[in-house]
Amino acid sequence: MNKMWAGRTDGATDAAADSFNSSISFDCRMWRQDIRGSIAHAKMLARCGIITDGESASICEGLEGIYSDIESGKLGFDPSCEDIHMFVEQVLTSRIGEPGKKLHTARSRNDQVALDIRMYLRDEIDTVTGGLKALASALTDKAEEYRDAVMPGYTHLQRAQPVTFGHILMAYPQMFLRDIGRLADCRKRMNVSPIGSCALAGTTYPADRLSESLDLGFDGICENSIDGVSDRDFGIELLSALSVVMMHLSRLSEEIILWASWEFGFIHLDDAFTTGSSIMPQKKNPDMAELVRGKTGRVYGDLIALLTVMKGLPLAYDKDMQEDKERLFDACDTVRACLDITSRMIPGMRADRAKMKKAAEGGFINATDLADYIVSLGIPFRTAYKISGGLVTKCAEKGITLGELPLEDYREACPLIGEEVYRAVDLDECVRRRNTPGGTAPDEVEKQIASVRRALGEI
Ligand code: ARG
Repeated sequence: MNKMWAGRTDGATDAAADSFNSSISFDCRMWRQDIRGSIAHAKMLARCGIITDGESASICEGLEGIYSDIESGKLGFDPSCEDIHMFVEQVLTSRIGEPGKKLHTARSRNDQVALDIRMYLRDEIDTVTGGLKALASALTDKAEEYRDAVMPGYTHLQRAQPVTFGHILMAYPQMFLRDIGRLADCRKRMNVSPIGSCALAGTTYPADRLSESLDLGFDGICENSIDGVSDRDFGIELLSALSVVMMHLSRLSEEIILWASWEFGFIHLDDAFTTGSSIMPQKKNPDMAELVRGKTGRVYGDLIALLTVMKGLPLAYDKDMQEDKERLFDACDTVRACLDITSRMIPGMRADRAKMKKAAEGGFINATDLADYIVSLGIPFRTAYKISGGLVTKCAEKGITLGELPLEDYREACPLIGEEVYRAVDLDECVRRRNTPGGTAPDEVEKQIASVRRALGEI
């Protein structure tokens, strides 16, 4: 096929080379950004007297027609075009003739592609932020439902201290709020425009980069044109932030998978978000959570891929950079889908309060509370720690809990211990007493819920 860039060569390339070189199959999804960018460019060219108002109007009208024809499905992408930028320009020129050929004045595909991808990702950041907000809010609602449901808190996956399910659930919105912050930071750095950097060196035309950029919603322009066309930090930064989102989602998924297992039995997932087995009739598998955990690998892979693409590239634009888009699109698609499915799954998740409480009663997770009580009798913590440990051993030998140990046994270990010990080791009481800011007491969890809701309302 005859290339728009035919000039230095006759533009006739090998069919296999064409197909290897082409990016339209994936960069076509930036068509909206490409057309919006071109409209702003045509307007700027007229404002600066580089083309006439009439030419600009005809270009803009042509581009708007292409926009609505793609939107309505009337115009399909031509796979023989090298990329979306060539496609739009080619259709424009075929529709409006001569003025179409002036659109590419004072720009290059190098700054054009960098512009489009920044505009595309900017919108993705907004969508992902919405997804994070929805998930944080679903978790917060669930946490409120279970603000006083006592369960074991774990360290080393060993029962450690009593906490509430609401408290655990409220840990996640904190992570997602930080993710939102990271994305907002990334968006700030991303939101400067490379347009007008042209191929690499800027242009001899009296182009107004700033007004064109502001017109497209950017906060400013990339200050060095060579950097403008060759920077993909914004993509790498986004992939890093998205990798952290996936890490958080994966941890949540892992907990959901554990909690839903027979061994824990802490939660029941809504049937609509589980699958059965083709052979084992009893199975109810947490596939959604497992897939989210599994897809984390894709997004990490996308990050490593782009870092590796960029690491040895000499300035300025190199075709290697065409490899950025599939990785970026894949990561955005994956994160969006994972956030969506997790947000849908959370409302139907039911906790088994009795099972959680029973698990909390085993494992002596109130041993710290017993030690703290002994300290309140005037005994140093290290000594109290030992006494508490001895009492735990005694209970374990008898096969009973600290709440069931007779007072004589307590007194034998420490004569100062009185009846109040039973209140001290009562699990609801243990939880209620941990009322320092951020702690597990239901009243504290309420405060965390209110604060997260406030923060989400401000985003
Ligand atoms: N399809 C290319 C990309 O995605 C667009 C820029 C091509 N520029 C060039 N001079 N070949 O990076």
